[in-house]
Amino acid sequence: MTALNPDKYGVIGHPVNHSRSPFIHARFAEATGQRLTYSAFDVRPADLAAFVAQFAARGGKGLNVTVPHKIEVAALVDALSERARRAGAVNTLVLRDGGITGDNTDGAGLVRDLTINLEFDPAGRRILIVGSGGAVRGVLAPLLALQPASLVIAGRTPTKAVELAQAFSDLGHISDRALSDAAVDGAYDLVINATSAGLVGEVAAIPPAAIGPRTLCYDMMYGREETAFCAWARARGCSRAVPGWGMLVEQAAESFQLWRGVRPATAPVLAALMAGTV
Ligand code: ATR
Repeated sequence: MTALNPDKYGVIGHPVNHSRSPFIHARFAEATGQRLTYSAFDVRPADLAAFVAQFAARGGKGLNVTVPHKIEVAALVDALSERARRAGAVNTLVLRDGGITGDNTDGAGLVRDLTINLEFDPAGRRILIVGSGGAVRGVLAPLLALQPASLVIAGRTPTKAVELAQAFSDLGHISDRALSDAAVDGAYDLVINATSAGLVGEVAAIPPAAIGPRTLCYDMMYGREETAFCAWARARGCSRAVPGWGMLVEQAAESFQLWRGVRPATAPVLAALMAGTV
């Protein structure tokens, strides 16, 4: 008698060889005793629809979706979760007999990292988000659900920040500002860098007055070296500048739970990634 093949999962992106998701999900599977495989698939945009159809036809159970497919993949699913619809982006596909559901666990991942790992309660606090791209769209609804006193979006391209603030204005106190005006009311409790400036070692032109000694500075980026934003914030007196490893691991845990019905412990995996030992 042969044992059933393990269930198949993976991440699709282009490029994808840098992805830490195979490591994270392998550790989750090991720790929870789940039998599965999880691979990285480099899929070009032109091949996206065919790849997803083929993965489903071969009995694949789930995919994470990363750059540049998060928006386009939403058109390929049978149903969208409410949070994916609101985000306008999908980072998780759940494949079942009934079809493919697109979900988005990025916002839940950020919120879990902030509230549980970093013990930061956004309720009643002042939050600044710098950047106005796809990553921001995914986290606004979950952040606003925690009822901050205010959430300000400041981007380099003002029209994008205006559009985002308007699109989510029914959910809470959200407004847009020009980056240069971001600190007119003084330092924030939480500043989130959601720009891609760090990819080229740069930091957005955030007014230093936005950062006070007690501000939590959170970078959605992460890397082996300290990120440009974290270094910048520390140099301006911030005592807590945190890279986004926790958001990465928590969004993965949320996806794993959707797929397997079990929530893996995140602390050991997060510690390994932050220590740079893997
Ligand atoms: P993602 O999906 O990661 O959000 P994106 O949609 O390309 O990626 O968004 C990147 C964000 O970083 C954008 O808001 C971009 O600003 P623009 O909309 O003006 O392009 C922002 N960004 C990138 N480099 C920046 C820089 N040096 N200073 C300020 N903002 C920057």
